[in-house]
Amino acid sequence: MRKDWWKNAIIYQVYPKSFLDTNGDGIGDIKGIEEKLDYLVELGVDGIWISPVYLSPQVDNGYDITDYRKIDPMFGENQDIYHLINKAHKHGIKIIMDMVANHTSEQSVWFKESRKSKDNFFSDFYIWRDAKDDGSEPNNWGSNFGGSAWEWDQSRKQYYLHYYAKQQPDLNWENPRVRQYIYDMMRFWKAKGVDGWRMDVVTSISKDQNFPNNPNPHKKPFVIGNQNNGPRMHEFIHEMNQEVLKPFSIMSVGESPDSTSEDAQLLVDPDREELDMIFTFEHMHVDRAKNGMNGRWDLQQMDLVKLKRILSSWQLNLRNHGWNALYFENHDRARTTSRWGNDKQYRYESATAFATILHGLQGTPFVYQGEEIGMTNSNFGIEDYEDIELTDNYRELVLEQKTISKADFLKAAHKISRDHARTPMQWSNAKNAGFTNGTPWFKVNPDYEEVNVANDQTKENSVFKYYQALIKLRHEDDILIEGAYELLYPEDSNVFAYKRTLAEKSWLVIANLSDKQLKIHDYLPQETEKDSQIILANYLDRTNAAGILRPWESMILELS
Ligand code: NOJ
Repeated sequence: MRKDWWKNAIIYQVYPKSFLDTNGDGIGDIKGIEEKLDYLVELGVDGIWISPVYLSPQVDNGYDITDYRKIDPMFGENQDIYHLINKAHKHGIKIIMDMVANHTSEQSVWFKESRKSKDNFFSDFYIWRDAKDDGSEPNNWGSNFGGSAWEWDQSRKQYYLHYYAKQQPDLNWENPRVRQYIYDMMRFWKAKGVDGWRMDVVTSISKDQNFPNNPNPHKKPFVIGNQNNGPRMHEFIHEMNQEVLKPFSIMSVGESPDSTSEDAQLLVDPDREELDMIFTFEHMHVDRAKNGMNGRWDLQQMDLVKLKRILSSWQLNLRNHGWNALYFENHDRARTTSRWGNDKQYRYESATAFATILHGLQGTPFVYQGEEIGMTNSNFGIEDYEDIELTDNYRELVLEQKTISKADFLKAAHKISRDHARTPMQWSNAKNAGFTNGTPWFKVNPDYEEVNVANDQTKENSVFKYYQALIKLRHEDDILIEGAYELLYPEDSNVFAYKRTLAEKSWLVIANLSDKQLKIHDYLPQETEKDSQIILANYLDRTNAAGILRPWESMILELS
């Protein structure tokens, strides 16, 4: 087994709450993951990233952890996950757990103690500051879920910092004890067999101890600004690497909200011994208006030229510096076919076109549950949404500040709400899409009668089969792992095309990301021969590189 096994791996993300319920309580569970291991083997993935299953009041669906070492009863028992890890290993599948160490739940014993006084063992486990003279917050930092990032605590008579909900106080990484507690927790899970960590907002762990105000162009009461990539971030991550990641050969992928590909060079340079990969957010903002006053809710038309520029900068800047993590979907992102594709007329085609683009790049692809069958966004009304990010932002922006109308907010939510990724997995056309025999905790997308695993697997035009083929290709041919990358037609606003080259061999990855009919000839590099071999294509009648590039048509071909 190569040490950097993740370089030719494909990792599948499970959001346990919505994956499969085996005990009829309407909530997915760990046994449900185990039950679907054969399915994941059939798909061909090498590892599973499991979103948090630890004890939690679920204010932010498990990203608010009360006890890092205990499985929440809603998902099962500790024994269930130990069993799952062993069984997954027998299937040749690695387990990557979610490490949420920027913050805990307010229910954590650490926080309960910390808020009691200024001089107990846990008092410096969190970030406490006095009020300003007028009683107001220490600075204008905003929470990602709306409002101030500071919350007043009556018992301690101080404010504490929370980058997310007020029930998610940020840990104080300046305190060496906090860091040691986290490393111990990581060792605990290593002993249970965990192979890797996905690290939640790891670039937020270090805070500028001067707590300067953020620039405030729209004169808002609180603003989200320069709160990531703090001064000691690299130092803390390197320390974690030396204490746990390196000695135990644990794979790591850090979630990195504000990182550019230049920042990434530092985070994932193997010589610096920090992380193996990071999840960038940059390419996820190609449909967000720049500097809009409503943040993620100020949408614009998706800009393909920009998407190509960003993904290419990551390909080029990390080449020979470090490794990419590749994704379009996860539990925080809406469904790509609905957001950027055509989920009506060309659902299969657009799902597979985006898959082709992503899996053709250099890096480790992550597939989010349901992405492999082309699941879509739901048609929710405001009352259907459940996610705290959306509900808090709605209250603040639509109802209180009135900086965006309800109609515009809903329009944006329909495209990008995190809830679209969290509807139950659609296994079959049975009741509740085969997700549960009980009442599902969250509405099943009504399109499940058509869009479901069982149905998709029997079709000719099957998203699942296409993913299988892509995954197989990556496992079999080093060109996708090692090949050099070159973007073609950077200014074209319909087509994403690039070359991968390894030694004498060159592959063209091309996708028409539009409803238009285009001429293939216009997009082929000059050296292409008509009889170039088709390696993979999403239109099954495609036999050569000639003719019309149909709506959302994509292919990989060997240039000869
Ligand atoms: C990123 C996670 O992916 C997201 O779901 C969560 O709300 C925040 N971090 C806070 O943990």
